[in-house]
Amino acid sequence: MNPIEKLINKKKFIPLNQFINIALYHKKFGYYKNNKIFGRDGDFITSPMISSIFSEMISIWIVSYWIYIKKPKKINILELGPGTGLMIKQIINSIQKIKTFDATFTIYLHEKSENLIKVQKYNLRDFKNIIWIKNINKINQDTTIILANEFFDAFPIKQFYKENNNWFEQCIAFKNGNKKKITYYKNKINNNSIKKYSKFYNIHKSEIIEYPIKIETYLNSISKIIKKNNGIFLMFDYGYCNTIGKNTIRAIKKHRVVDLLKEYNDCDITFDINFNILKSIFKKNNIQNIGIVTQNFFLQKLGIMERADQIIKKQDLITSKDLILSINKLVNPKEMGEAFHALAFSNKNCKFNLGFI
Ligand SMILES: C[S@@+](CC[C@H](N)C(=O)[O-])C[C@H]1O[C@@H](n2cnc3c(N)ncnc32)[C@H](O)[C@@H]1O
Repeated sequence: MNPIEKLINKKKFIPLNQFINIALYHKKFGYYKNNKIFGRDGDFITSPMISSIFSEMISIWIVSYWIYIKKPKKINILELGPGTGLMIKQIINSIQKIKTFDATFTIYLHEKSENLIKVQKYNLRDFKNIIWIKNINKINQDTTIILANEFFDAFPIKQFYKENNNWFEQCIAFKNGNKKKITYYKNKINNNSIKKYSKFYNIHKSEIIEYPIKIETYLNSISKIIKKNNGIFLMFDYGYCNTIGKNTIRAIKKHRVVDLLKEYNDCDITFDINFNILKSIFKKNNIQNIGIVTQNFFLQKLGIMERADQIIKKQDLITSKDLILSINKLVNPKEMGEAFHALAFSNKNCKFNLGFI
């Protein structure tokens, strides 16, 4: 039996979040232990893998914020969920080429998968001043820019369903007692226990509620860093903003949606984030939402097209064609341009809003 089957065998059923946590992050069994998950030959591709121009735009944003806060001599860049470490590698390379930027910086990386930490250490072996950090509350006091690309969508989620005015938690159990097949199982819960989600959802009108477990702990830590370290948080992810919840969970393998219950030990499991959850927790912590815009809007405001023009002038036709195709993938509303959003959060008194207006 695999670790999921063993647990179900013992408990009869397990909540969806526990199932996802084992399926993705179990040291020996979890999906993230695999080496070929990212990229065109893997299961999914993220923006920094499409073109380094994405990270270049983030570098411009970082330097602009650094100028806005009057060029402190030292800064931290903290990346949450760095995957293969590609984005931070591209950012370090491009930030060092920006002549006006003369601060020294420490990179903090926060990663849950032990296998990916190894990959990151290998890919970033030529760089100094990189610290892998388990507890993000432990970073030093310097001004901190926090970055996250597709971080929260990899969190285990809880799901709740309403049927005839009763709430049920989505769980996983064996199918008809067959210990080799799993299925969804809705476990009735006390209706009062759903009330804690009414901060984020209209629980009277919603039929489904999704909640990424541990998100509040993370957002509280990020809020503290923003306050204590004059920080700012920039993130990209797919999601929506609505008080009515929906079922958004997906299993992805080889760039296609697959059946989660059949492929769970060999696929990525992801979901759309309800940005309301982030807005509401940050608001409670007195943290300002600078904006929520599409990835297309953000990248265009940062000047991705102008930068592409500059590069193309110096390149041959074939390389230029690749760049144009990559930019199209990043900004085209039918590709990643609209499904993905950029969100930023800062202290209340911060007027920096590059990319958001
Ligand atoms: C979908 S991948 C995105 C990787 C990378 N940011 C990129 O854009 O290519 C999600 C990343 O977040 C990490 N992750 C998920 N939950 C985490 C947590 N609670 N703490 C730290 N890392 C986490 C995963 O292991 C993985 O590196």
